[in-house]
Amino acid sequence: MHRPHPTEVYENEVKDLLSRMTVGEKLGQLQQLTWTGGTGPGGGQTEEVERAARAGLLGSVLNLHGAAHTNTLQRMAVEESRLGIPLVFGLDVIHGFWTTFPIPLAQASSFDPEVAVRDAEVSAKEARSNGIRWTFAPMMDVTHEPRWGRIAESCGEDPHLNAVLAVAKTRAYQGDDLAADDRLAACAKHFVAYGGAEGGRDYNTVDVSEQRLRNLYLPPFKAAVDAGVATVMAAFNTVSGVPAHGNPHTMTGILKEEWGFGGVVVSDYTGVEELIAHGYAADGADAARLALTAGLDMEMVSTHIAGHGARLLADGLITEERLDDAVARVLALKFALGLFDDPYTDESAAVDEPTPTARAAARYTAARSMVLLKNDGGALPLDAAASGTIAVAGPFADHTDLHGTWAGPGCRRFPSVSLLDAVRAAAPAATVTHAGGGAEAVAAAARAADVTILAVGEEPGLSGEAAVRADIALPEGQAELIAAVAATGKPFVVVLLNGRPLTIGDWVDGVPAILEAWHPGIEAGHAIADVLFGAVTPGGKLPVSFPRAVGQIPVYYNRENTGRPHDPGSDEKYVSRYLDLADGPQFVFGHGLSYTTFTTGEPRLGRPVVSVGELDDGTRIDVRVTVTNTGERTGDEVVQLYVHDPVASIAQPVRRLRGFERVTLAPGESRELAFTLGADDLGFWTNDQNGRYVIEPGAIDVYAGTSSRAEPRATLTVTR
Ligand code: GLC
Repeated sequence: MHRPHPTEVYENEVKDLLSRMTVGEKLGQLQQLTWTGGTGPGGGQTEEVERAARAGLLGSVLNLHGAAHTNTLQRMAVEESRLGIPLVFGLDVIHGFWTTFPIPLAQASSFDPEVAVRDAEVSAKEARSNGIRWTFAPMMDVTHEPRWGRIAESCGEDPHLNAVLAVAKTRAYQGDDLAADDRLAACAKHFVAYGGAEGGRDYNTVDVSEQRLRNLYLPPFKAAVDAGVATVMAAFNTVSGVPAHGNPHTMTGILKEEWGFGGVVVSDYTGVEELIAHGYAADGADAARLALTAGLDMEMVSTHIAGHGARLLADGLITEERLDDAVARVLALKFALGLFDDPYTDESAAVDEPTPTARAAARYTAARSMVLLKNDGGALPLDAAASGTIAVAGPFADHTDLHGTWAGPGCRRFPSVSLLDAVRAAAPAATVTHAGGGAEAVAAAARAADVTILAVGEEPGLSGEAAVRADIALPEGQAELIAAVAATGKPFVVVLLNGRPLTIGDWVDGVPAILEAWHPGIEAGHAIADVLFGAVTPGGKLPVSFPRAVGQIPVYYNRENTGRPHDPGSDEKYVSRYLDLADGPQFVFGHGLSYTTFTTGEPRLGRPVVSVGELDDGTRIDVRVTVTNTGERTGDEVVQLYVHDPVASIAQPVRRLRGFERVTLAPGESRELAFTLGADDLGFWTNDQNGRYVIEPGAIDVYAGTSSRAEPRATLTVTR
């Protein structure tokens, strides 16, 4: 369904305004500046922003929020400049504004798009009431790199899961009317393949084949564009030697021409300037020319397009057509946001703190995003009615900053609920002790307790942008705490609070139960306690593989089989394996346990044969899978549907996730789930630079199960 772009909807208004603008005013609309501090306009430290606003030479401001503050700056633009074109205020509202939700990697673990919706709806209401109209989210960078700190902001290693969450979040941020007072323009970022940085080192080289670009990295962006995402942000990295900020193939060829994207492409922070450091632009003017010509529309923070644009235009180095197209996209966005009708924010309606409803949503989504990695002997759930002694130990036992990276302004005002406080609330009859650190003190607390909850992991600053770790084990001293508690022989469980997969092979075997809680946000403690004491049965699944060792990276489920796969159990030498490490990850993509057990049946195809022509015409194959709760407790299971094309002109991943559904089943309950497979599931992109998607005749294996190790299978035959 073609959704008219704002440039189509507001074509006349935009054309009229463009006809009255000077070159300087046009270039001003392509400039976004950051508010660098101070208490807000008038008392701010950015006279440059105020001066540009008054002169009508500024299109957007990031990092300023607050209805009064944004209104003050807006009045300068609207009431003092010649044409009164309003500013659009942007901010990184990634997983919360006042109310911090779980990090996006945690939200992906829920395998439930509703989790992303809850976050986006609360966040949009809070941010919009504080003057923000544009969020630089959702981030949808597929990545196989747990060393990369921004994996915390992603939805992991699978393009389908990233796409489903990206669409859910985009639609929830934007709603059906961008001008509504509880919606935001969304931003698909970072375009493109940022998650492929070599060595996981941020901003590093990405050299990627066209087929992998199109089969792995692009699908979430295409889904977001089809869902009507208003803006796209360029990525810092090169894409096969050409920086994304100056890459005509990706920004114009694919995004704007192949996909018909009609919105705004904004640079990342000084991304245009960085074309010089990349060795792609000779100087600022060259960077401006290369970026604008390649399809970039608005420059964030660096000022080369605004600074050199007039001269570039006069010298014929950029075209008036491209300039007007970029300005039209920006103006159309502002019309769609309702800024020309009402550029100001109602200061009396500003949301100033998390509401109880928002907190409840944060708590619900955080618990739903947790993954039970291990639960030997039913160590979990704990008994909330127990009157014994519970030790809450480790560096995160009483931590109140569990918001994670890219938390909104709320993380500075509203601390997370600590695990210690939450356990005391969840188990009122118990004696709850606390031992923050020191192996001996923690061991002593464990010896004196009936059960110990050991909270370990990463400080939020160890993940996120420019937070890359060469070693992804638990930080210094924490494995020793686990060993000390294990040595007491007393019951204990480990709660992980981290922003990436960790290598846990040194201690995983000695721990009865491990709950992956990620960075759960403002309601962290309560959400963890809800799961530990069984108020919520865990149902999350891993959206990323956990490597056994950092030397094994990259290890991911959607891998090629290679010509010499290692057959587990065989000691054949000349195969693809490590001499000093077992095959495969510690925990696979899609892994996650529950407090009950489930079985899934064979996938049943609606028809065993379909032709390429039928698929091209939109035929979809029904696939039914029955899942049963075979345990004693009500619980959630995520049934996952994978395909594998065993013979193709491009070697296909051994598994590709093409569907999933999370269901809650009572003990003994069975449910038949319905999926469909169509052309977009059964074919793949080739290495053709112009984009060629093919569906090839032959057998396609269809797997259904509760992780990427799914075995039950059916075979679909595709005929010519
Ligand atoms: C940062 C990030 C980007 C963010 C932007 C504005 O460098 O790369 O994701 O939206 O700058 O803060």
